[in-house]
Amino acid sequence: MEILMVISFLVLGLFLCLFLLKWNEIIIYHKKGLPPGTMGWPFLGETNEFLKQGPDFMKNKGARYGNVFKSHILGSPTIISMDPELNRYILLNEAKGLVPGYPKSMLDILGARNIAAVYGTTHKYLRNNMLSLVGTSLVKDRIFSRIDKYMKLYLSNWDSKIIDLQEKTMDMALLMAFKQIAEVESSSIYGAFKIEFDKLFIGSLSLPINLPGTNYYQGFEGRQNVIKILRDLMKKRRASAVTYEDMLDQLLRDLDTKYALNDDEIIDQIITILYSGYETVSTTSMMAVKYLHDHPKALEELRDEHFAIRKGKTADEPLDWEDYKSMRFTRAVIFETLRLATIINGVLRKTTHEMKLNGFVIPKGWRIYVYTREINYDPFLYPEPLKFNPWRWMDKSLETHNYCLLFGGGSRLCPGKELGIVNISIFLHYFVTRYSWDEIGEDQKILQFPRVEAPNGFHIKIMNLDKIEEI
Ligand code: HEM
Repeated sequence: MEILMVISFLVLGLFLCLFLLKWNEIIIYHKKGLPPGTMGWPFLGETNEFLKQGPDFMKNKGARYGNVFKSHILGSPTIISMDPELNRYILLNEAKGLVPGYPKSMLDILGARNIAAVYGTTHKYLRNNMLSLVGTSLVKDRIFSRIDKYMKLYLSNWDSKIIDLQEKTMDMALLMAFKQIAEVESSSIYGAFKIEFDKLFIGSLSLPINLPGTNYYQGFEGRQNVIKILRDLMKKRRASAVTYEDMLDQLLRDLDTKYALNDDEIIDQIITILYSGYETVSTTSMMAVKYLHDHPKALEELRDEHFAIRKGKTADEPLDWEDYKSMRFTRAVIFETLRLATIINGVLRKTTHEMKLNGFVIPKGWRIYVYTREINYDPFLYPEPLKFNPWRWMDKSLETHNYCLLFGGGSRLCPGKELGIVNISIFLHYFVTRYSWDEIGEDQKILQFPRVEAPNGFHIKIMNLDKIEEI
């Protein structure tokens, strides 16, 4: 009798589990014409499996359901598209109701006037303002020389030190951006600012649980403190008769121009600039150094390129735009690093109304994960895709092919693309012409998903190149 009861409980439990697993599909998200796929547990969906299995989650689902399938991840019903044509279509057709769909925590902490939170005419307006600050001609005429000056300084005195390259490149990326925003004040306030900005950054990537002690809660605190520092700065600038040559000055002076912003918008725009270039520039720099270390031929060619630039200069002479334009192999190393490490796995969109894509019904408000990772390893586009081969990018047409979405595409194409490449190129210039380096420890772990990061840091020992040549 007891055995019968246990068996009945087990069977009941099994049915309950199966029912709960089907609950989302049958009751909550039931609709004819949806893409194939499963929605997982009520409320939780398949987030756990997605985060645990990473790229394999996508691969396994793709093998089972095809290039377009449905799931429930990160708190929202989501269509995952790994179809290159569809991905391109989605990025090029924001006007048809395919607007950014970033998670709540990110939007809450980055601000309501963050460029990724808006669309339509507001997006156009903020984007034009953004381009007037970081567009290529600005990088060439105003920003470049400042990056050169501070990067040279930043990379001095590293000789004989053991550093955590992950920490250093993150600091480098934020500092270089901060110097563009408030150059003069940066030396006195950057330290305090970075502590608060890091809280904001971590909070934006966390689950939206607003309880004391959570990253999300601290992210808000960070945002409030960042705002306070920026408001003080703006107040002081307004009270001063001095003119400065940096982005804050331009933002405050722009009041009569076509793309003037109010104070709240100025603050969100500054946070956006600092945030967008933070992890992208730092992780690409770190991974480029890692790949160069592992591929001595590529390092040799990169060094030759940079020594040829130095040859025509005195020791302290700065780099100029022409030097940057001549760094063809460096650019190839950066693109190959972005591809192979997949610094960006994809971008998020959501639908403003129900629509049909690839013959499937996509309900209003569903998120679409435009998953671009797989295309980075397409053997037709990139023969021997798992090999670090920067030479493949020496053919410039690869950078502009239809499915190269390393910097996004369409009306959201990264406005900081050239700025990011300039930062990394100048970093590599001073790094490889001054130093040689060895990794500490055989096997320093670098995670590839959901973000590229070294959970215990990435430690290297630095040696001055001069000293090595003397030996
Ligand atoms: C290696 C460096 C970088 C990479 C790989 C990168 C990549 C990307 C990608 C893939 C997007 C598209 C996002 C989407 O479609 O939702 C994007 C957008 C954006 N990026 Fe970058 N980025 C880099 C550096 C920078 C820098 C230095 C800035 C500084 C201003 C910046 C500012 C932005 C902004 C503001 C957007 C949003 C544009 C819009 O919504 O109109 N990025 N970036």
